[in-house]
Formats: sequence, structure tokens, C-alpha cells
Amino acid sequence: MSSIIQAGFLQTHPEFGAVAANRTQAKFLWGERTADLLVLPELFNTGYQFRSLAEAQNLSEPIPDGPTTEFLIDWARASGMVIVAGLAEREGDTLYNSAVIVGPRGYIGKFRKAHIFDTEIQFFQPGNLPFTVFDAGFAKIGIMICFDWRFPETARTLALQGADVIAHPANLVLPDCPQAMITRCLENRVFAVTADRVGTEQRLPEESLKFIGQSQAVDPDGTVLVRASEDREEAQGVALDLDKARNKKINGHNDLFADRREDLYRIGGKG
Ligand code: ACM
Repeated sequence: MSSIIQAGFLQTHPEFGAVAANRTQAKFLWGERTADLLVLPELFNTGYQFRSLAEAQNLSEPIPDGPTTEFLIDWARASGMVIVAGLAEREGDTLYNSAVIVGPRGYIGKFRKAHIFDTEIQFFQPGNLPFTVFDAGFAKIGIMICFDWRFPETARTLALQGADVIAHPANLVLPDCPQAMITRCLENRVFAVTADRVGTEQRLPEESLKFIGQSQAVDPDGTVLVRASEDREEAQGVALDLDKARNKKINGHNDLFADRREDLYRIGGKG
């Protein structure tokens, strides 16, 4: 079986709160392209800047039994793609900034953002699910969400569990992530597909958020295979040869994982 897959991302410009319209626009933007794996941004259906907890509660949904997950499953069934997309999850009274992974056979799983960024803590609880690699058949797919990039343990955990590709829904406001993901890929020999959004939200008087775009796919050598613009909606696809991620050898003598010195590392505790 070929180890080459087709991956894609959508770089969107959602209208805050227009959940059904944002879903439809994402599907329209992708059009009739084909891919094995498609990654959508964080909170792709709602937008980012909630004004109140009540607003976040109203716009959040259970996963998997909510309308956005159902929409994504229908899309995956019709297109044959595995889709990873970010949305606000409601479980009882608790909200999480989550991502769902679905495929032609339905719901596969979800991940809850572990590292909550800045004022998100007013709405979302930090994720309580372990970093997990999902078996999509054609690839092992790990998920992390936006600011999780700032913690190298996230990508490392996924890579050590056998991830070929890290799907990374994002709403980036800091400038460093696109470059940092090159290092995350290089230090783990994994692919990463970051799907970001563009546009500005100013729903609070003193906080204007500009999202930096630059969605990208990076290979296990740290090569940026494709990077999107800073300011436009885009749909991009790229071929990934997964054998590159499965071979952790750096040269004849060094293997990125076999050479790890767990006997010398002390990273278990806080501080
Ligand atoms: C972010 O984590 N959305 C910046």
C-alpha cells in the first residue's frame, strides 16, 4: 500500500456566531477537491472572541451528538475524507475548546485543548483527555489545538505514540507558531498540518484580535511544504509521504527516538 496521502487545510474567515453559515462556507471553500485528511481551524463554526460565558454556552455543542459534528460526519461520508475540526464543546455545564475527528464511517474521537490561552479560561476548562493518536486506517493522526504548540511535550507525546501527522486546528494571534511548528516537526520527525483563520475580531471594547493566517503543512525534515497567506481565505492540498515520518533515523548512527536519554531527562514534575 502506498504511504503517500493527500492532506489539506482550510484557512477560513468565520463570522462570529453564524454557526450554520460558517459550516456551509467551509464546505463551499473546499469545493470538490479531494483529500484523505482535511484540517479545519479551531472554533471554525463559531469564531473566537466570546463576550460572556452565556454566549459561549449558547454557541457550544455536545460532541459527538451535536449539529456541527453531524454536519462534519455527513461531509466525511459524502467525500470519503477524514476531517479534523475545532469547535466549542459543551458537556453538562462545562465547556471545552475541542476538536473532533470524523471519517466516512462516522465519529472517530475528540481532543480537548490542553493549554488554554489567555482569557479563554473565562469560558473553557483546560482539557482533561490524554493526548491521543487516532488510527484513520491510512495514517495515525494526533491532534493538538492552537496554543498547545507552545509546549513541546504535546507534539513529543503524539510522536512517541506513533503519530504520522499532527492535525493542528488553530486561531493564531501570536506570530511565532508557524516557525515553531517547523521545530516541532524536525524534533519529532512528524508531519504537521496547521489550519488557521484570518480576519480581526473586536467584540470587546479593549481587545482587538488579529488572526495571522499562514496555515501550513510541514514535513519531518522541517520543510514547509505549503504556507497560506496572512489575510485570505484559502483551501490548500499537499501530498505527504508518511514513510518519512515513520523512519526516525537521522543518519547511520542516530535514531531520534532510540537515542533518547530518558535516564538523564527530568521532566516529570512541575517547575
Ligand atoms: C490560541 O490558542 N487560540 C491563541
